[in-house]
Amino acid sequence: MIRPCAAHEFETIRTIINDGARAYRGIVPADCLKDPYMAKSELEGELNDGVLFWGYEGSGELVGVMGIQEANDVTLIRHAYIRMSAQRRGIGGTLLSHLRGLAKNPLLIGTWASAKWAIEFYEKHGFELLSLPQKDYLLPKYWKIPQRQAETSVVLASPEWLRTNSCCG
Ligand SMILES: CC(C)(COP(=O)(O)OP(=O)(O)OC[C@H]1O[C@@H](n2cnc3c(N)ncnc32)[C@H](O)[C@@H]1OP(=O)(O)O)[C@@H](O)C(=O)NCCC(=O)NCCS
Repeated sequence: MIRPCAAHEFETIRTIINDGARAYRGIVPADCLKDPYMAKSELEGELNDGVLFWGYEGSGELVGVMGIQEANDVTLIRHAYIRMSAQRRGIGGTLLSHLRGLAKNPLLIGTWASAKWAIEFYEKHGFELLSLPQKDYLLPKYWKIPQRQAETSVVLASPEWLRTNSCCG
């Protein structure tokens, strides 16, 4: 059910991200919401930067995707999206557990500060919300995102990251 996404599934990945991201409408600041949410060029850039997408297949079609990216001494979970019609059925949790098993380093995850459900989702899986100073330090260190997105985002860390970075912030 869980498998790496193939190169020819580029448009399917984009469709799932853009469908799942409908959850942001009216929640994430409007000036941060592009239409489409994930442009072709942006997804190409992410793949070129080493984001590897894994997918969850149900009834013969991909219903969720989640990316993993190695970034020096941390592993990032990137672009976690489940089709709107398939959310809250355990698919995101299954994908997250799978990617945790593949991670070479302690995990960090960034998401919109206003996406409270996503923060709750990661907290349920043992991740901890980092402080504002920690976020301001980590986002430019490990992510390539616009300044406005950084201002409106939070970072969560896995227990492994917290154990090895208990000195920071
Ligand atoms: C966040 C997301 C990846 C989680 O995947 P999922 O398959 O829906 O999550 P699971 O079924 O494994 O876990 C569900 C839990 O996540 C949280 N959650 C997910 N979606 C939620 C929603 N719309 N409202 C409230 N809580 C939600 C809740 O804690 C929920 O538990 P509950 O159903 O018992 O209340 C998925 O909901 C999604 O694509 N959301 C929109 C995009 C997004 O926020 N992506 C995160 C980007 S980093």
